[in-house]
Amino acid sequence: MTNTTGTGPLLDATGIRVAYGDLVAVWEVSLRLHAGSITALVGRNGAGKTTLINGLCGLLPVKAGTVLLDGRDVTALPAWSRVALGLTVVQEGKRVFRELTVRDNLVLGLRGGGVKRADREDELARLYERFPILGECRRQRAADLSGGQQQMLAIATALATKPRVLLVDEPSSGLAPVFVDLVFEALSALRDEGLAILLVEQLVDEVLGGIAEEVIVLERGRVALRDRAANLAVEDVAASIYSSL
Ligand SMILES: Nc1ncnc2c1ncn2[C@@H]1O[C@H](COP(=O)(O)OP(=O)(O)OP(=O)(O)O)[C@@H](O)[C@H]1O
Ligand SMILES: [Mg+2]
Repeated sequence: MTNTTGTGPLLDATGIRVAYGDLVAVWEVSLRLHAGSITALVGRNGAGKTTLINGLCGLLPVKAGTVLLDGRDVTALPAWSRVALGLTVVQEGKRVFRELTVRDNLVLGLRGGGVKRADREDELARLYERFPILGECRRQRAADLSGGQQQMLAIATALATKPRVLLVDEPSSGLAPVFVDLVFEALSALRDEGLAILLVEQLVDEVLGGIAEEVIVLERGRVALRDRAANLAVEDVAASIYSSL
């Protein structure tokens, strides 16, 4: 059963539970991500956003539930096989290989996505075109980039894997406003190109101000609120996020 008609969800997660030993951090959460759509995942610190994302992409095992990627059950697959099938994560905290150059980070992404060696230079050129800021520093070590440049590199490396579903954990965190804008522009463009995106984001104004179609508020590992962004006011979402304080 594959989603060849483009109508079903690209990612369909049902009853996802993730625990650290006896501590259950995510309780039976279900969500669907559709092509050409951004779903925002919000919630206070410790609500379980990162844990859920890591369960979906296979960095953490799920204790219950199923993850379908384009109709295929990937729940038991390791993270790298999910990447090869089109499910990629941009982890919290600007994760890049600091000792490698910008180019070599991107090449790792291309390899993770199964891009053939013969196509590598073309794909790199496309990534530099999309992110000129990375093209300019392609020979620099990632460690020598600014925080904003590292976040762009983390996103570009994820894109290099050719995902259809992208999970992005707090990409704007700690960035200068100019980079926050670049990150949101990049994610909007990817949505317009048909990716299904799950975006963890603290900037509720940005989330409701146009970038996300749907919003899910997580509270103590459970869905506290879920609606189309157009139906929600910033105060409703903020109230839901902070109601448990
Ligand atoms: N490696 C871990 N071992 C044990 N408990 C953990 C671990 N990582 C997270 N937790 C706990 O799981 C719960 C959910 O944490 P998680 O990091 O998923 O929240 P979050 O919503 O991403 O928070 P933040 O907004 O701070 O990033 C918290 O109670 C946290 O303390
Ligand atoms: Mg987190």
